[in-house]
Amino acid sequence: MKLETERLLLRPFRRTDAAEFAQLAGDWAVASKTSDIPYPFSAVQALGWLKPVRGEARFAIERKGQLIGGAGFYRRPSGAAELGFWLGRHWWGQGYASEATRAVVRHGFANRRLPGFCSAHFVDNPASARVLAKLGFEPTGRGHIASIARGYDVEAVTYWLDRQRAMLARPPIVTAETERNRWRAWLGLLGDTA
Ligand SMILES: CC(C)(COP(=O)(O)OP(=O)(O)OC[C@H]1O[C@@H](n2cnc3c(N)ncnc32)[C@H](O)[C@@H]1OP(=O)(O)O)[C@@H](O)C(=O)NCCC(=O)NCCS
Repeated sequence: MKLETERLLLRPFRRTDAAEFAQLAGDWAVASKTSDIPYPFSAVQALGWLKPVRGEARFAIERKGQLIGGAGFYRRPSGAAELGFWLGRHWWGQGYASEATRAVVRHGFANRRLPGFCSAHFVDNPASARVLAKLGFEPTGRGHIASIARGYDVEAVTYWLDRQRAMLARPPIVTAETERNRWRAWLGLLGDTA
């Protein structure tokens, strides 16, 4: 499965991504903001991390043929999808995370049985808060989530995004149309026969 956006290609990770992945995600500035990326992060560890896991949709984010980050989700036992994302430091601040995560969320909601997305960010991560807000995520509470890189639990804000809210967060692609068509546009279905 591949997803294409205006500037990015989201594709499955490959074993050959391991060294680059370890270098980009193993940066303290990245790993310390995630719950599950260790620090230091070796290419061998990255190989294990990249193995496909049942119930997960994990995408490598590629720009002009170059790996720049990752985004994806896993299905919780409740059925909800938990969204995660990161970018190599060099590519921050250019809207790439917003662009990639929007495609991932849209892909998730193409599955009509998905009730919604949850996500979370550590309190010292305003950039992630902004990405989630732009997607329409709403804060649901606070808690503590383990950070493998930091080695302790970190205060975090938790979020939820349901279908309706996701649709409203995205500017309509086609104006002056029915709600149904707006939703179909959001899912990228306009023009499809499905
Ligand atoms: C979070 C992360 C993915 C954002 O990537 P990005 O491509 O820079 O994100 P975008 O450019 O799409 O959007 C970032 C938004 O945050 C804003 N932002 C960035 N730093 C900020 C700060 N210190 N305070 C407030 N807002 C900030 C940007 O202005 C932008 O908002 P805007 O589009 O309204 O201007 C990237 O910083 C990263 O990989 N961090 C480390 C890993 C991580 O945090 N992953 C998420 C774990 S929950």
